[in-house]
Amino acid sequence: MSNIDELKATDTRLIKAGKKALVRTYGCQANFRDSEHLKGILTSLGYTLCEDLKEADLILLNTCAIRENASQRVFGEIGLLKSYKKQKPDLILGLCGCMAQQKETIAYIKESYPYLDLVFGTHNLYRLPALLAAVEKQRQTVIEVLPKSDGLHENLPEVRDLPHKAWVNIMVGCDKFCTYCVVPYTRGRQQSRPMAEVLLEVENLVKQGYKEITLLGQNVNAYGKDLGLESGFYQLLEACSNTGIKRLRFTTSHPWDFEKKLGDLIAFKENLMPFIHLPVQAGNDEVLKRMGRRYSRESYLKLFDYLRSTIPGVAISTDIIVGFPGESREQFEDTLSLYEYCKFDHAFTFVYSPRANTPATKFEDPVAEIDKKAWLAELNLLVKKYSLARNQSMVDKEYEVLVDGPSKKNPEVYSGYTKDNRLVNFNGADLKTGDLVMVKIQQARSFSLNGTKSQNQPIEKDKAGAL
Ligand code: 5AD
Ligand code: SF4
Repeated sequence: MSNIDELKATDTRLIKAGKKALVRTYGCQANFRDSEHLKGILTSLGYTLCEDLKEADLILLNTCAIRENASQRVFGEIGLLKSYKKQKPDLILGLCGCMAQQKETIAYIKESYPYLDLVFGTHNLYRLPALLAAVEKQRQTVIEVLPKSDGLHENLPEVRDLPHKAWVNIMVGCDKFCTYCVVPYTRGRQQSRPMAEVLLEVENLVKQGYKEITLLGQNVNAYGKDLGLESGFYQLLEACSNTGIKRLRFTTSHPWDFEKKLGDLIAFKENLMPFIHLPVQAGNDEVLKRMGRRYSRESYLKLFDYLRSTIPGVAISTDIIVGFPGESREQFEDTLSLYEYCKFDHAFTFVYSPRANTPATKFEDPVAEIDKKAWLAELNLLVKKYSLARNQSMVDKEYEVLVDGPSKKNPEVYSGYTKDNRLVNFNGADLKTGDLVMVKIQQARSFSLNGTKSQNQPIEKDKAGAL
């Protein structure tokens, strides 16, 4: 049965019209993209979307399991929602996404939160209409979690969050099985969408006036390997850039699958943004090996240097895990020295968090949590230092910014992003979401820039959008 047939087959009379639904999303962009589909399905069933918990007749938490604190936040939230459920017994409370894919979580939920009405996983969100109908009928917890994907589901309804920037999934799942990571278990094995489907979606977005598209996958550089494609991501990126979209981005990259010629393509194509998120995770070879990352410090740095020297003005950010089981102080210092060498534009840094059923939970882990937190703080000083230094080098220059919109507090202060993905808050007037403007940078902060809109028009002078 196709998705549309599935929707039609749902006995929508069971879902009363005029009800309000709230979808709350945790975690990565894959979850935010899934939530756009959840919202699309809900509106096609007659729900109106809302933001206020008190107004909602249906609350759906789309969850993340990447680290323990992500799961704890959700458990806290479900606890708080119990009082809403008491005040409004007809309220439907649902949990979906990555947490639902974990057996241990399901057992814990059944025991601790029996008032949840609906639980479903990452592989069957297209079944939401039927599952809601079951909830309305049964009025007892409906749980449906598929252990693995039953294939890709195209053409699901959607409500996109933004009118000017869009996420496009090019694949789901991951085959890399890094030893600390839960994603291959919660999202399943890698499945690439057919190139023609991705291109059609991108072309439609361009027609609708979208200015920026980000191609999304856990490991975009491996795109197409499961379809038997050679250099699949290179081909896809080139084809997408030929659609005429103003700004094209992608995330996330895995250094092992990253072909150098992709750097040449980014340097050559005007609409490929000079920004690469290239998670390194650790700077020590032994740690990288035990993480199952399949590259060495040297090969990472070789790729890094190539990208820096090939793409003018490129910004490179990274992810780092501190305190991987068995990591010694000396090994952690290799991460610090790698950071000093790379001077990343930005980094997301985490203390290692054991995840059920992943191989790393079995590794010995003698370092105390408090020491790991101290290492993290040490690393974060470097993150701040180099981000600020790079931002300071931009002061008094003008950069192209894609306008997100005015600030909630002051309609004359706008925010937006540069081509190399820096957040800029700037003074301006009469601007619209989706405008491309030049902004003169006046002040650098650690993780953002302040400036004023200039009278100059964006013209292509420099890959990073500087005048
Ligand atoms: N503990 C800490 N950080 C993790 N990440 C993934 N799994 C874990 C874990 N178990 C981090 C990695 C990844 C990012 C999305 O989250 O750095 O790149
Ligand atoms: Fe997780 Fe590794 Fe896949 Fe990234 S590449 S999603 S860290 S298994």
